[in-house]
Amino acid sequence: MIFTVAVDGPAAAGKGTISRAVATEFGFAHLDTGLLYRAVGVVSELRGVDPVTVARSLSPEDLARDDLRSLAAGDAASRVAVISDVRAALVDFQRSFARRSGGAVLDGRDIGTVICPQAEVKIFVTASAEARAHRRWREVGGDEAQVLAEVRARDDRDMNRAEAPLRPAADAVRLDTTDLSIAEAVARASALIRTCL
Ligand code: C5P
Repeated sequence: MIFTVAVDGPAAAGKGTISRAVATEFGFAHLDTGLLYRAVGVVSELRGVDPVTVARSLSPEDLARDDLRSLAAGDAASRVAVISDVRAALVDFQRSFARRSGGAVLDGRDIGTVICPQAEVKIFVTASAEARAHRRWREVGGDEAQVLAEVRARDDRDMNRAEAPLRPAADAVRLDTTDLSIAEAVARASALIRTCL
């Protein structure tokens, strides 16, 4: 069975958690596409190599680095994500993952709009900037106002870039998680997938 679930949205809206949970529930493979951009950002900074070259030769070791979850890695990711040749280098890998047999869930910023416009299910996960910053702050600590400023800066960069800006596909279903528990958000996403299977 070929079946693609595209999950997009801003940082810390809950896309990763929802995607992992529904992938497990339906037995689909899951790809966190943010990890690709994080690896390109971190590896190119560390080795002083052009991000496009890194994107064209990403290795499983690059994707398995344990520093990819940091705020700094997210920031490096969003800086290389504006480069159109970086995005182009990552398209084929994401598309073949999406069309593998057995079903796939991909989460990111442009899955429903650019990578998989034909996805069987598209979900756009949102939450207020304050709620997202609070969640991120609970994970990473530090100054909550500073985390909120970083969340807003990243939203701004992701939504206003020329190439594949963050926006919902016209046929995406919006899921606002501001006042939802994880269980409630997952239940809504999985009910939606069930109706499209
Ligand atoms: O989702 P995550 O926070 O890991 O993504 C890090 C950054 O990578 C995002 O802020 C965005 O700039 C970029 N990204 C993207 N397209 C995707 C996934 C992530 O531009 N499909």
